Amino acid sequence: MIDDPLGQTLRFPPGFVWGVATSSYQIEGAASVDGRAPSVWDSFCRVPGAIADGSNGDVACDHYQLWAGDLDIVRDLGVDAYRFSIAWPRVQPDGRGDWNEAGLDFYDRLVDGCLARGITPYLTLNHWDLPQALQDQGGWAARDTVHRFVDYARHVNKRLGDRVRSITTHNEPWVVAVLGHEKGVFAPGLKDRALAMQVSHHLLLSHGLALQALRADGATAELGIVLNLSPFHPATDSAADREKAVIEDGLLRRWYLDPIYHGRYPEDVVEHLGADAPTVPPGDLVAIRQPVDFVGVNYYTRSVVSSDAPWDAKAAGKDTTAMGWEIYPQGLTELLVSLKRDYPIPALIVTENGGAFDDVLTGEGRVHDAGRTRYLAQHIAAVHQAIAQGAPVTGYMVWSLLDNFEWSSGYAKRFGIVHVDYASQRRTLKDSARWYRDFLAAQRG
Ligand code: FCB
Repeated sequence: MIDDPLGQTLRFPPGFVWGVATSSYQIEGAASVDGRAPSVWDSFCRVPGAIADGSNGDVACDHYQLWAGDLDIVRDLGVDAYRFSIAWPRVQPDGRGDWNEAGLDFYDRLVDGCLARGITPYLTLNHWDLPQALQDQGGWAARDTVHRFVDYARHVNKRLGDRVRSITTHNEPWVVAVLGHEKGVFAPGLKDRALAMQVSHHLLLSHGLALQALRADGATAELGIVLNLSPFHPATDSAADREKAVIEDGLLRRWYLDPIYHGRYPEDVVEHLGADAPTVPPGDLVAIRQPVDFVGVNYYTRSVVSSDAPWDAKAAGKDTTAMGWEIYPQGLTELLVSLKRDYPIPALIVTENGGAFDDVLTGEGRVHDAGRTRYLAQHIAAVHQAIAQGAPVTGYMVWSLLDNFEWSSGYAKRFGIVHVDYASQRRTLKDSARWYRDFLAAQRG
């Protein structure tokens, strides 16, 4: 039983997994150390204007060198699980052919380092850092990349699969497809909707084929996928806003979950896409429809849909984080309950949740991030509500352990519960980390 800053007493089911999350490109640095080759993000960061502060992931949190101390922090927080991703170009620089033993050794050390500290490793294969060598051959738009990914998944499983509890194929395929290939604001920076939808299909196909291959190889880890999801609310009651909300939900949620669970793409979305709908050879949808052990949900805010100007949370007078994203914890309850209602998902894990806030490191070495603490407490309470309403939620992970390279926002936005001083690489627990640690201790006590 605990008293959180909201004054509530919450008790979670036994076995509920509490964690913290990171991803390779955002924290590792060591971009050209020990044989790592460039990823699409290394290239994208070099495009003038692509990253708000002109930065890149060359050094980031230097986690490649500082991983042991970082895992000590994870252990001291008292979490159960650490969610991290593998940098594909670190373990297979060309995305095909030779494996880089030095890179694989790093993840061996990391996984063993987790286990030695009593932390359960949750591994993600693709948190966006595709080898640039594969991008040069078409990247996710090329069907061959699907098969390269399956080889990569099998090799990582062979090397690490006996010691990780969970393997995620893709983190947020919508982001890769739409932000990377339609809007052009994330790597590889392309602006072509038809290409983006073909990419989304290849990501899904590679997910399905990888699951098939890993199961044939006797994988023991739980296998799943992580999606960025939110409930969609029309800005007004107008028919135009309501129709748009249905299509947007179709593009973000049903586009990924319908093929996994029903073996087809949603008809209304296919019709909406018209000529931009992907080419889907026979057999692909059967391959995508593999049982998943869990669906990971990354939740930050809800989506409010307006048929004219894009809805602006701040202008609408809502409380927002430093990203300008509305703080809307009840949306997480609504989302988790709706997922349970719409799909026979065996287990839902909140694989990311957290907020960027304008943190100040005081002279006493403290960060009084009351806004983030409140955000986390409210969202954890929302998860509790969802469980009470029957959603099969089995875990919750804070994004993020560390301040890190926040993609196109560079280092300007801080999501960590641990502050990173990038000049000295000093780590400082923020008040939110202290709160999370005490919250977890009370859960166990
Ligand atoms: C998610 C990403 C993660 C992080 C958060 C803020 O979309 O998966 O890497 O950047 O957003």
